[in-house]
Formats: sequence, structure tokens, C-alpha cells
Amino acid sequence: MIRKTTYGYTVEKKDLYLDIAFYADNIVRFAYSTEEKLPDSTLAVIAKPQKTEVELEANVIKTNQLKIVIDEDTLKVSIYDLEGNLLSRDKAISTDKPKVEKQLIWENGFYGVGEKYAWLNKKGTETANWNTDVLGVAPLHNPRLKEYHTSIPFYIGLDNEKAYGIYFDNSHRTYFDFGKTKDDVVSFSAEGGNLDYYFIYDKKVSEVVKGYSLLTGTMPLPRKDFLGYQQCRWSYENREQLMEVATRMRKEGIPCDVLYLDIDYMVDYKVFTVDSEKFNEFREMLKRLKGMGYKVVVIIDPGVKVEEGYSVYEDGKARDYYVKDAEGKDYVGEVWPGDAVFPDFLRKEVREWWAELHKDLLEDGVEGIWNDMNEPSDFSTETKTIPEDCVHKTDDGEEKLHSEIHNMYGTLEAIGTYEGLRKLQPNKRPFLLTRAAFAGCQRYAALWTGDNSSIWEHLESSMPMFMNLGLSGYTFIGADVGGFDGDSNGELLARWTQLGAFTPLFRNHSAQGTINQEPWCFGEETLEITKKYIKLRYEFITYLYNLMRHSSLTGEPVMRPLFYHYQNDEKTHNINDQFLYGENIMVCPIVRPGADRRMIYIPEGEWYDYWTGEKIEGGQYIIKEAPIDILPIYVKAGAILPKDEVVEFVGQEEKTLHIHFYAGANGEYDLYLDDGMSFEYEDGVYSLVKFTMEDNKEKLVIKSEVNKDNYKIPALKLHIHGVDNKANVTLNGENLEVNEDFTVDVDKAEFELVVER
Ligand code: GLC
Repeated sequence: MIRKTTYGYTVEKKDLYLDIAFYADNIVRFAYSTEEKLPDSTLAVIAKPQKTEVELEANVIKTNQLKIVIDEDTLKVSIYDLEGNLLSRDKAISTDKPKVEKQLIWENGFYGVGEKYAWLNKKGTETANWNTDVLGVAPLHNPRLKEYHTSIPFYIGLDNEKAYGIYFDNSHRTYFDFGKTKDDVVSFSAEGGNLDYYFIYDKKVSEVVKGYSLLTGTMPLPRKDFLGYQQCRWSYENREQLMEVATRMRKEGIPCDVLYLDIDYMVDYKVFTVDSEKFNEFREMLKRLKGMGYKVVVIIDPGVKVEEGYSVYEDGKARDYYVKDAEGKDYVGEVWPGDAVFPDFLRKEVREWWAELHKDLLEDGVEGIWNDMNEPSDFSTETKTIPEDCVHKTDDGEEKLHSEIHNMYGTLEAIGTYEGLRKLQPNKRPFLLTRAAFAGCQRYAALWTGDNSSIWEHLESSMPMFMNLGLSGYTFIGADVGGFDGDSNGELLARWTQLGAFTPLFRNHSAQGTINQEPWCFGEETLEITKKYIKLRYEFITYLYNLMRHSSLTGEPVMRPLFYHYQNDEKTHNINDQFLYGENIMVCPIVRPGADRRMIYIPEGEWYDYWTGEKIEGGQYIIKEAPIDILPIYVKAGAILPKDEVVEFVGQEEKTLHIHFYAGANGEYDLYLDDGMSFEYEDGVYSLVKFTMEDNKEKLVIKSEVNKDNYKIPALKLHIHGVDNKANVTLNGENLEVNEDFTVDVDKAEFELVVER
């Protein structure tokens, strides 16, 4: 029996109900349950169902985009587009142990599933989600490991002409099989919980990504200075070491915004303590660093040292805030401080208590928080996490097993910390970095991909990992540049810094006991190359900031696989080592030792070699020479790119903003400007300048329009690429003489420049 509900339909069969709810014409939730009550959603989903135009005829539901056919005997569904193409068909479903098997019909590739090793396209592979301290269970990140620090039970199936996404809203351990066990079956299942998933359809994969972001939210607009270069090490062990790094950066002329303190700043690894012997005059030190343009981030792990007299431990114990073991006692595991207990972040009051503990650090001048070991990691068990039968409590006092909460533990900690930072510093955008995450965690924290190694394979594999994270809603991401575990070397650091300069989080980090890998550690050549690319990062920082803003509004990632914009070109479906940085820049890192050239696929259209200005026709493979100081970068005709003059740190001084126009196609660009720091933009304190470029056989017309003017617009200088004729140029109707490299100063943000072809 199919019944209408407020947002869709319920189908009932004996003791089983299927609730079909619409979030848009192309976004449908399928929730199965044994009671006539919708299963609870996890913390990932923030969207609400919408009243949608739907009609039911017999067992067929039609929206403006989809036709859903329900088998009333089995509750299996088949989904078609309006032209009658089969998009998805259930082969088998089970609700005891939640599982769906779908027919693998037309999908050319499968993507998403967040932070996973191996190639971009997951077709023919299987994976699982259980947040894991990877180095705890394996010597190295490698493609045979399925479980990483992060769990995002979302995947995308696509071919040239269409795409869909399935978000399986289940926080238990989940499994995905993309045609591995049987080549015509794709399946997902979980150890517990409900069969509750969302189907998102569109012709374009980009719309599927936006649909997923609608369900699970987007990253908040980050601080601009945290997009600068970040330097870390486990550990800068005392004040002298940290200050030396800070001073050396400036002396070498390496731009740098953020420095980190890893676990050794604490007393015996007790969270919310500072070792004042190693870091004497902590507050004064932070003040000095601030004066030099640095922001300092400190690590906070969830494990609280069990120690009588340690106020955080005792306070949490007195309030009964720790996760319990199966017998109802505080569960004691082992992390850096030895015996440790774990706050039960499932409860709001625990999160609020935890948040409040950050107060002193912030007052001292700490500007960001780094949440590590939050899978949570536990050295005392074989699985390297706390036992699945540990017990959490909800706000209503209901008990939940850790097996259900585990994958969300890091995100729950992030929620507490993010909200706490907002409360403690209401007009400063929080910076929070996390290792463990669940779907939706992008709303609270940036993410780094954990303990990689200083090996070329990890440089290479980071790219598909980033692209799949981007497709899974995570934009603010990065890996430890230079590699964390093991010794790095000059060539590897140089190549890794080239890629790092184009990842939203750009942090060099290395492990205790390994060789130091700050930019100056491997000789003059490496220093010059890393410096060149860190500077390039700062040249593109306004461009990146604008991409981040766009992502905060839409969920579109900064780092995109080529098929994101060239889906109809099948050659792009398996490109692992090139990515788009926004729509118009393509980055092609070198990921092999000794390589001084590589093959590059140039997608359709006309492109410019960023370094030489040479024009290249798309739709072909080329070999690009790339000696150690060259990272191949391409810019698409029609691109309009803002570029900054390099500073030592973001906001150091006001400089001219250069706007680069790449002729050869029409283009437009919205430049967004604000203070990069506060929430005043929410009240309209920002500026928006729209640039357009129209290029046809007779003339090139470049115009700008100030659409909002509530934040200072800097001086602008224009650079036009790809135009030979420098005669017959007018600026605002006046004849203009242009120089060799076609740069033009404008004294007003609004202008019109015409070049006769
Ligand atoms: C974990 C982190 C690493 C950190 C180390 C010490 O291994 O992933 O980044 O440096 O712990 O805190």
C-alpha cells in the first residue's frame, strides 16, 4: 500500500515500511524501518524535506526529474530519468543487516567515499568505513587498507552523460562494493543501524556534488590567513626551536602565516596544560610571534590523562563525562599521556565543557586548534581504538554503543570545539583542523589526511585522495607536505611543495625522529624551489580565497578531477595526476623521482602554458618538460585570475591586486573581498567586483562592474595575455598606449578596455 505523506510517500508491506521523501526534484530519501516511524538521521544531514511536485500513478512516482517505480511486494525500487533511461535498480535489499545490492548498469566509474588510498576511480574495488589511526594498525598507508581516519559513506556513479550520488546515512561500520565481488552489482551495507539512504541525480556530476552539499552542509568561509603557508613538526620542543623557525622563515624571505605546536608543548601530554619550562613566558612568546605575522595552532587530543590532581581529569570525572566500558565504569585506554579517558562528546553538555576548556589558550593568544587522535585512537587494544561495546549517552540519557558513535566521534569533538571557539571569540572565524571525520564534518573543521610517509607513492596517491574528498563535500583539505613518517629529501620536498601550493591546506609536517624538512633543510636549490612555490601560493591567495568562498556557498570543491568540467570526455574519467584548481587552472604535478618531463592530457578548448604563455589546443596529450623547478600549470582561454603581490604573511600590507585576462574565449569572474577574518561579511561588509571579457574576431572587450562596495577595493592593475595587437586600444573611451607585456593601470575599479583585433 502506498500512502501520501507531507513530503512524499510511505510504502507498507507487512512489518516493513519504506518512507520516500523529497528534498528536491532530484534528491530523494529512501528510509526503511520496521516501525511506522522514520529512522533518526545522523548528525551529517542538515537539510529538511521539501514539498515537491510529485504524482503517483499505480506504483510509479514522478517528479520533474525522476520516475521511481516501486515493487510493492519487495520494496525494491527502480529509478529512471524522464526519458526512460534506467538510472538505478535494486537487485536485493535487506533491513536486518542493512544492505542494498544495485544493478551495475551504465556506470563508467565510481568516485567519492572520502579519504581513501588508491586511484580516483573505485570501479572494481571495495572499501569500508571505520575511522582508524592508520599507522596504529599498519606500517604505511597503502591501497589494501580500506579504513582510514575518516568515514564518508557517499559515492558517485557516472558516465559521460549522467551521474548520481548515493549518501548512505549510517554511522556504523559500512561497506561498499563497486562491482568487485560481482561485476554487475554495486552494493552498500552496514554492521548495524538502518537502511536509510539518499539518491541524488543530475546529468552533471557538479550538480550531484552540490546536491550532497545541500544535504550535509558546506565549509564555513575560512580565515584568509590560514590559507597561507603553515609550518609544523612533531615537535618544536621548546621556545627556542619555535622562535628559530619563525625567525629563519623571515630571514630566508619565505612567506609563512601559521606555526604549530605538537604534543610536546604540554606537561606530560595533559591536554589544556602548557609546559612553562620549555615554553617560558608562553603568552609573551605568542605575542612576539603575532608581531611577526604568525598565528599559532596547538594540538588538542581527546584522551585525558588519568591522574589524580589533574584538574581537567578530575572535573570531567566528577561530572561523569567520560565514555563508559561495558560494565559501566569509565573506560580507560592508552594514548600519549599513558592511561587516558575519553570525553563523551555525544552529549551537548560535555561538548560545552570541553569548549570552555579552550578559554585560557585563546586568552594566551593561540589562534587555532588541531584535533588529532580523534578516531579515537587507543594504543591499548588490537584495533587501536576503544572497544565497540563502550557506552555513550545521548542528551536524553539514552545509551548508545560505541559501534554506532565511533565514526562520528571526531566530528562530535569538532562540533564542540568549533562552537566553543565561536562563543569564545564571536567575531573571529575559528580555525580547526581534524584528523578523524564523518560526513558533514566539513561544517566545522579543515582536514588533513593523517600520517603519510615521505615516499613518492604518497605524494602521488594524495591527488586522487584529495579529488575524491572534494567530491565528498570536503574542500579544506591537505596532506603533510614533504611526508610525515620517514626521512624526506630535497627533491621530494620540492615536488611536494609544488603540489602543496595548490591544496587548500598547505602544511609541511614531519614526525619525531625523522630528518627535519623545513624549506632550508636540503640545501640551496631546494630552498629556492620551495620558496618559489610558497610565493606562488601567495600570488594566488586571493584566487584561492575566492574559490573557498564559492565552496562555502555551493559545496563545489577547489581541487576538482578533470571530469568535473569535462564529463563528456571519457578520457578524463581516469586521470589521477592532474587536477583543476577551480574551473580555469589545471595543475599537473611531477610525482616521480628524477622525472624531468611528463605526459599531460589537455582537455578541450584553448589553454595557455602558465610559465611560457604558449597556447595549446585542447583534446590532446602532450609531453611537457618539467625540470625540478617547474610544476606544469595551464590556464584556460577565457580565464580571469586575480593575483597578489607577495607578502610575508596575509594582511602584512596593502598591495596592488593584479587581474590577469587570458584572451581567446569569453569569460567572467566575480572578485570577492572582505577582511578575511571576522563575521562582518554576514552583515554585508564585503565588496564584489564583476569582470567580464568578450572576445570575438573584431575586438576584445574587458569590463568591470562594482556590484557591492562595502569593503576596501585595492588598486588594480590589468594584464592581458594572448593579444598581439597593441595598437587601437582604448580605456574608458580614451586611446591608450600599451607596453610590451600588456599591463594597464586603472585608477577606478570600474572600467572598460577595448582592444581592436
Ligand atoms: C599523530 C598525528 C601527527 C602528530 C603525532 C604527534 O601521529 O597524526 O600529525 O604529529 O600524532 O602528536
